Amino acid sequence: MSGIVKEFANVTACDDVSLEVAGGEVHALLGENGAGKTTLMNILYGLVRPDRGVIEFEGRRIDPRTPGDALTAGIGMVHQHPLVVGPMSVAENLFLGGLGDGTQDGARAAIAPITKTIPLDVDLAARVDSLPMSQRQRIEIVRCLARDVRLLILDEPTAVLTPEEVEQLFIEIERLRGSGRSVIFISHKLSEVMRIADRVTVLRGGRNVGTHEAGAMTAAKLAAAMVGAATGDVTRSDGSKPGRVRLEVDACTITGRFGPPELERCTLGVRSGEIIGIAGVEGNGQRPLAELLFGLRRATSGTVRFDGRALPPVGRWQASKVPIARIPEDRRHHGLLLGAPLWQNLMLGPQPPRFGPVLARRAVLDWARTTLEEYGVRPADPTTLAANLSGGNQQKVVIARELGGAPEAVVAVNPTRGLDIRAQQEVQERLLQARGRGAAVLLISTDLDEIFALSDSIAVLYGGRITGPFAAAEIDRDRAGMLMGGVDGG
Ligand SMILES: Nc1ncnc2c1ncn2[C@@H]1O[C@H](COP(=O)(O)OP(=O)(O)OP(=O)(O)O)[C@@H](O)[C@H]1O
Ligand SMILES: [Mg+2]
Repeated sequence: MSGIVKEFANVTACDDVSLEVAGGEVHALLGENGAGKTTLMNILYGLVRPDRGVIEFEGRRIDPRTPGDALTAGIGMVHQHPLVVGPMSVAENLFLGGLGDGTQDGARAAIAPITKTIPLDVDLAARVDSLPMSQRQRIEIVRCLARDVRLLILDEPTAVLTPEEVEQLFIEIERLRGSGRSVIFISHKLSEVMRIADRVTVLRGGRNVGTHEAGAMTAAKLAAAMVGAATGDVTRSDGSKPGRVRLEVDACTITGRFGPPELERCTLGVRSGEIIGIAGVEGNGQRPLAELLFGLRRATSGTVRFDGRALPPVGRWQASKVPIARIPEDRRHHGLLLGAPLWQNLMLGPQPPRFGPVLARRAVLDWARTTLEEYGVRPADPTTLAANLSGGNQQKVVIARELGGAPEAVVAVNPTRGLDIRAQQEVQERLLQARGRGAAVLLISTDLDEIFALSDSIAVLYGGRITGPFAAAEIDRDRAGMLMGGVDGG
């Protein structure tokens, strides 16, 4: 790709970018949220038309106007947010991708050549929205590879994967490299980039600020190249004194429709001024636990209480003035109204400011702009539609809305997923500030580094049961890792 320019209404997403990827190479694309990574790849995949620039693939000039054009040329892309159709079956989704005839047998035959090397391991009759993110992503990967792509773009593929699934994906990426195919790999996790990439290109503010041999770089150098300065670690001040219990989960069980309970007699109390971290591999009860605490679901038995009173269903939070901030796992479906401007999204927080009986448009927009600026959302324009922000900036809007009103309790699920290093630190610092202000913070995260960096106490969720919490000093990563795998080595 050379000289690629793409301007949107108020930002230049790609500002004269050039990028060269060799055959049989894993090429990482790094950059802060909003640096233009997804846009550049959308251009290559025919989803976005560039204003200027030239694309050549295997020696030929190409001009993909649709993903169909890109696939025909031999370029496939797996998106940051899987683009599969939820209410349809896996076989039907493969059919939409040009594979098979919508039946299970047809689908199986169409993907057979590729599943020898990259198994799908997914029930072809299953409805896609019943599948975990990792499997939805697999469907996309297999769907691309079965169309014989020679260049596969993976946009933050590991953000939705557990550590074991990441290992599996890396093995598959290596197989693709071994077969002479090229992979463009986008991730905010520098350790992953250092492990898998042959070369790394860093984008900053829509420009290519350098392509490097991965072997000649360190994670610290890459981080500095991304943000244009060195970054530190978040520092947590100890010596805070937790107060009384505010948020309580008391012997909660949610029975599953089939099979074992989704949650089994979970008990947990979060005190004012502390962060309790819940570690665990995705799919072990995080979602039902979060839904209980968000007031979206009722327990089959047991209660969730805030300040000693049963938590009402979410519809009644506004009237009962429940001051709990919710940072959901899936910002696009549960965190934001994608079709609404940012100011409206901000107004939906747990404690929106009051603007008098008549909404004074000017005052709301000014407040929204200040909030967006304070939380580093780019662009900080309150009239932008949420859908038009980059993934990380969408997450920042959720954080700004939920934490902006000084909530008394916070429930955060994977709050830094998909964020660049600087934004990750900002969010982690915000959570520490909330704790410092006396909020009771429950952090549910599949990122063990994050759990250990922030938590005063750590519990592990496995198979719907909670073990712990343990004081952070009393549990090490090995023990946590074993509990996460269902082994109690203590
Ligand atoms: N359809 C659109 N309309 C308007 N602006 C857009 C659109 N798509 C992207 N942008 C803007 O272009 C810039 C680059 O966004 P892009 O999604 O490419 O970033 P990114 O590097 O992938 O970030 P992230 O790491 O957060 O995913 C951002 O400022 C974003 O707000
Ligand atoms: Mg992106």
